Amino acid sequence: MYLVTGATGNVGRTLVTDLLAADETVRAFCRHPERGSFPTAVDTVVGDIADREAARAALRGVNGLFLLRMPGVETFWQEVLRSDVRSVVLLSSAAVASSVPTYMGDLHRATEDLVLAAPFSASVLRPGAFMENTLRWASLIQARGVVRAPFPDVAAAPVDARDIASAAAHLLRHPTAVRARIEPLTGPELLSVRQQVEILATVLNRPIRLEELSEEEAERQMRRYAPAEIVASLFALMRAQARELTEIHPVTRMTAAPARTFATWAEDHRHAFM
Ligand SMILES: NC(=O)c1ccc[n+]([C@@H]2O[C@H](COP(=O)([O-])OP(=O)(O)OC[C@H]3O[C@@H](n4cnc5c(N)ncnc54)[C@H](OP(=O)(O)O)[C@@H]3O)[C@@H](O)[C@H]2O)c1
Repeated sequence: MYLVTGATGNVGRTLVTDLLAADETVRAFCRHPERGSFPTAVDTVVGDIADREAARAALRGVNGLFLLRMPGVETFWQEVLRSDVRSVVLLSSAAVASSVPTYMGDLHRATEDLVLAAPFSASVLRPGAFMENTLRWASLIQARGVVRAPFPDVAAAPVDARDIASAAAHLLRHPTAVRARIEPLTGPELLSVRQQVEILATVLNRPIRLEELSEEEAERQMRRYAPAEIVASLFALMRAQARELTEIHPVTRMTAAPARTFATWAEDHRHAFM
């Protein structure tokens, strides 16, 4: 049986359905399962990852684990080491590999260190920015046909969370002979914010105006809904991205399937912007 933590999240939600579609037995773990509306074939354990009782219940009978880093993951990991889990895939972050040290990168690195020391097959996925992050533009696009963003011409290679799920499913179902494996993951193409906005405008068939935000203004706005250390990390990473060339690591090399483009993602999520 596979246990998917973060099962209602961007990646976990798709991973649950991908594993089911491959005739695997799946258990979902999260605090609010109603957000996932899982098929009845999915076993669900409700609880906080920091709760040992919930962790034991979630891990019972599990061989393969998809793990998200979240507060309390260290406690959960102690229970993993006492369980029958024999392979793990950790969703980490490209922030770990960045040339600039950040609070966020340090958090992910600490979890990677735990997982990569496991006495069984351990794989780490290090995705860059998710395409899903552009959903935060939706309300302003709906209301005024505007996107306000800093660094409009810095190119990144955003990745579709469904491709991260495909990579995770592949690694879970084909545990590596290499005991500790690290896989960077991006989308298939370098795209600036300006190009992403242009693609969205084409897909939605409406003009979208891009207004450049100063770094200071963008940081001030983001601090309203994210902790200061996380905001500082994100901006340090964006500044580094502006200086360095982003390498492309599409999912294709693992699954042989073509990586989803931003145009495909935008088509599939157009309802969220209308
Ligand atoms: N967005 C990006 O650009 C990006 C880039 C690189 C790496 N990442 C990493 O990707 C991860 C996020 O993945 P995602 O977007 O798929 O997830 P997400 O959409 O942020 O959802 C988080 C999931 O974790 C569950 N969860 C949160 N706290 C929990 C707790 N205390 N106990 C049990 N479950 C808990 C949530 O469900 P409940 O609320 O129901 O519990 C939900 O299913 C983060 O580690 C992030 O750093 C993101």
